[in-house]
Amino acid sequence: MHEKTQSITKLILKAAERARRETSAEPEPDQIARVRWPVACTVGPGLEGAIACESKVGYVNGSKGWLVYRGYDVFDLCAHSTYEEVCYLLLHGELPSPDEFKAFKEKLVDYRYLNQTLRLLMSFPLEEMNAMAALRMGTNQMRQEFSYIDHRTGHPPKMDVIGSDEDSIPMETQPKGERRAIYEFKKRGRRKRMRMNRQLDDAAGLQAAYHLIAGLATIAAAISRVQQGKLPIDPDPGLSHAANFLYMMTGRRPTPQEERVMDVALILYADHGMNASTFAALVVASTLSDVYFSVGSGVAALNGPLHGGANQQVLYMLEEVLEHGDVKDWVGQTLSNGGRVMGFGHRVYKAYDPRARVLAPLAAHLVRGNREMEPLFKVARQMEKEVVSRLGRDKKIFPNVDFYSGLVYGCLGIDPEMFTPIFAVSRVAGWTARVLEYLQNNRIFRPRARYIGEFGKRYVPLEDRAGG
Ligand code: ACO
Repeated sequence: MHEKTQSITKLILKAAERARRETSAEPEPDQIARVRWPVACTVGPGLEGAIACESKVGYVNGSKGWLVYRGYDVFDLCAHSTYEEVCYLLLHGELPSPDEFKAFKEKLVDYRYLNQTLRLLMSFPLEEMNAMAALRMGTNQMRQEFSYIDHRTGHPPKMDVIGSDEDSIPMETQPKGERRAIYEFKKRGRRKRMRMNRQLDDAAGLQAAYHLIAGLATIAAAISRVQQGKLPIDPDPGLSHAANFLYMMTGRRPTPQEERVMDVALILYADHGMNASTFAALVVASTLSDVYFSVGSGVAALNGPLHGGANQQVLYMLEEVLEHGDVKDWVGQTLSNGGRVMGFGHRVYKAYDPRARVLAPLAAHLVRGNREMEPLFKVARQMEKEVVSRLGRDKKIFPNVDFYSGLVYGCLGIDPEMFTPIFAVSRVAGWTARVLEYLQNNRIFRPRARYIGEFGKRYVPLEDRAGG
């Protein structure tokens, strides 16, 4: 499958071999047993340790550093599979047959065209917006490309495609010299009432998932183009998902090595248990909102620097440390001031993150001869040594997936602003797979907070309060 990029496959196989030598792939009995409700578990702040549902999508063994998608070790998927195949696997539970795979890829080709969404999105000042905010907006706007009825038939409404001819645009743009376009809004007609349990319709849910997997890459790439001061470009139906994503961002068809590197990164980020963004997506889905809103909330949760926002922060941190000049001193100062070193630590992994095991050698391979990235990589290596020697043994703090990914993306010429959107472009597979699975046995999420406030206070009218 990957004849032209054997060197990348070799790196992955070597990382896998090392991981298997250093850790054992034994499941944790309490994390794989069927849940009998009500379940007894010890819950910490931030719901640490809480069991919210059962899942067959993926498994993270935090004490061993082992990641599994639908029974397959992530190292094997990186070495032999593709992101498209992994998406199919996550959504359907099995690897596709050749015919199923062909049909799935054809759907993705179709769904990469998001004419209405891009037209609408382009009316916002994307170049001034945070890329994740723009991505979240685009994700929610995707809902209008494809109505629920279209999902049932599997046909997006091609006749609604908006051309580049301004006169064909149903909303009128009045460029009055303002920085933002001004619209005359069309009055909305009466809408059909939807059945309340519409999200339990498997076919519709799957079409929305395919649509979102294909579409998030198109939206993220378009945002990147606008932020570079360029117009978005159409996908190329002959390219893979990873190659298309790079092509739509850069305007240049990637080399086999670049395509493979992006593909591996997308596989590594595709799913990861009940992390904050997946949980956010599930909470929204559990209200029987729709998959688009769920993915939009996943994007929002991912944005934070304690979650997906860390990869961008890591690169800025490495630049700062390079400028500082003394890694040991910088780490010492940061830790003694109670600061966190970005790209280290994880709620679940108390061992080396298997994804970092792949991304570190990939980064090492790619930075060779790259004048900008090579010095940053050297800082990263020193930093890993320093942080692990201080915090590895006692606090089980090791590099996480985000520590080396920014260096990898940097070598592909991608702007740091796009690092977290790339995470979302990949993780949409896990979000949608888990949302569809959860909806099979849906129960609205509703934990409780202990009230520790006061009671019996007497209301004082505003004018009688002190300080006026
Ligand atoms: N740098 C320094 N110390 C750390 C770090 C870090 N990156 N991470 C954890 N610690 C320390 C804490 O200070 C704490 O020490 P203490 O017990 O002396 O108070 C101890 O390790 C445990 O930390 P918690 O905050 O309880 O761990 P938690 O599970 O809540 O946090 C998190 C996990 C948020 C990922 C944390 O490790 C962190 O902030 N890392 C940096 C940000 C980052 O890289 N995020 C990406 C995570 S991966 C992802 O989301 C894809």
